[in-house]
Amino acid sequence: MRALVVYETMWGNTGEIAKSIAEGIRTQQGVDDVQLVAAATAAEELPAKVDLLVVGGPTHAFSMSKASTRDSARQQGAPTVPERGIREWIDGLTTPPSPIMVATFDTRTVNPRLPGSAAKKAMKRLVGLGFRPAMKPESFGVHGYSGPIARGEVERAREWGAALTAT
Ligand SMILES: Cc1cc2nc3c(=O)[nH]c(=O)nc-3n(C[C@H](O)[C@H](O)[C@H](O)COP(=O)(O)O)c2cc1C
Repeated sequence: MRALVVYETMWGNTGEIAKSIAEGIRTQQGVDDVQLVAAATAAEELPAKVDLLVVGGPTHAFSMSKASTRDSARQQGAPTVPERGIREWIDGLTTPPSPIMVATFDTRTVNPRLPGSAAKKAMKRLVGLGFRPAMKPESFGVHGYSGPIARGEVERAREWGAALTAT
């Protein structure tokens, strides 16, 4: 089983969660390879023989980030603001020749709690392209906009990653 984890991050929180998810996937039997790649540098074509695609990013304005919300993050002092996020990466994907399992996640602020989820929006688009959901979209909490990650969420991300291959 080969997995690809594509993520986007401004302050590093979603990057940490993505790393933990990848570690969780790696703990499972039958997993040969897990690649962890930033959306900004991920190839537009999926590598051959990917069995599980995992996509995650920060929730911005109730959805996936876009150029204007990334600019806003930059203005708020975010240290790594990518030119291309998961929204644009997904937009560049083509329908896989045979259905590939997909899971999506996001990070969201726990204070204040806001509605909306980048993971849900990403899943909708990916299912529209012909990917098959492995699990329902999941959110992980961060404090404020810059973090840190809420207590227990790194461990929960690892467990969520491990559970993905069981489906
Ligand atoms: C422009 C902007 C809009 C945001 N909108 C939301 C939102 O609608 N809901 C939410 O829960 N968090 C929102 N956040 C907080 C982000 O989800 C938070 O910054 C992110 O989880 C941090 O992850 P990162 O370190 O990987 O960038 C927003 C942040 C920014 C910069």
